[in-house]
Amino acid sequence: PTRILTGITTSGTPHLGNYVGAIRPAIASSRAEGAESFFFLADYHALIKVQDPARVQRSTLEIAASWLACGLQPEDVWFYRQSDIPETTELTWLLTCVAGKGILNRAHAYKAAVDRNREAGEDDDAAVTAGLFMYPVLMAADILLFNAHKVPVGRDQIQHIEMARDFGQRFNHLYGEHFVLPEVVIEEQVATLPGLDGRKMSKSYDNTIPLFAPREELRKLIYSIVTDSSAPGEPKDAEASNVFQLYRAFASVEETARMREAFSAGIAWGEAKQALFERIDAEVSPLRERYESLMSRPAEIERILRDGAGRLRERHAIPTLRRLRDAVGLRDLS
Ligand code: TYM
Repeated sequence: PTRILTGITTSGTPHLGNYVGAIRPAIASSRAEGAESFFFLADYHALIKVQDPARVQRSTLEIAASWLACGLQPEDVWFYRQSDIPETTELTWLLTCVAGKGILNRAHAYKAAVDRNREAGEDDDAAVTAGLFMYPVLMAADILLFNAHKVPVGRDQIQHIEMARDFGQRFNHLYGEHFVLPEVVIEEQVATLPGLDGRKMSKSYDNTIPLFAPREELRKLIYSIVTDSSAPGEPKDAEASNVFQLYRAFASVEETARMREAFSAGIAWGEAKQALFERIDAEVSPLRERYESLMSRPAEIERILRDGAGRLRERHAIPTLRRLRDAVGLRDLS
């Protein structure tokens, strides 16, 4: 089977970018004939950014409920919390020992931190943790542990998948063909969903629209999207507009074509935003009801996650680590 794997970091409330970039395409591809899917909550990754235990736990619950509300069937896919699979961290060490430090130096998140430090006149690595630096190795372990073939993600993650291939290849070269080299899968229409201010929608920019914001809040947020000051009747450049980019991520090809014409014909911003609100709400509101109901049953979610991880360890993670330990010359623990 084709193994499909993707994760979301449990550092905040899931937003529309996570939905169109990861959750929606991942669930769609998991329904294809012959797919075996691995969807998880990246809580080890969350610790890199969030040192607030309550927030990590809250986010884990919200993201788990979001996957389930969006149609994930726990009987049909592997659905788990990253830290319930401790073999992940053990593999991280094996990969750390083959990962080139020079490659990690080029990781976007690390480089951005260094650039910020330079601008502030600080040391390159001021306040940079080894966790941030090692982020791509942990992510490679997530992917290689289950020999995933395809990883559906937003554009911001491409570099990480390339690094996972690189580390996997080096390991294979040294120790034999243990790892599948994963391929990235990007939904071209929505490769990067813009946020309220036009930059990439991201928890770090505080410009997100929560996936399950109550309807009134959703409307308010959409009306607060930054636009240019062109008046009603003035032609508008659809491609340059974040309202249009968002609309396109939720609309059919025909609806998108009609909206592009409306932009050329000078649709008023208020009208375009109303259409966007209605489009998103139509897709999200049935899911929102399921989400709210799931959020009121946290014990059930916890049970689903533990059950998924328990079975997945037995079936894949533990036997895989046994083989890898043997391959590198460590003792067999069994
Ligand atoms: P994270 O939690 O930042 O984002 C989760 C997923 O949502 C996508 N995404 C977006 N897609 C389109 N437009 C946006 N504005 C947008 N914002 C976020 C991301 O590309 C991602 O697919 N390191 C990962 C989590 C992770 C992972 C993995 C993913 C850990 N291990 C292994 C895949 C495979 C992350 O922090 O994603």
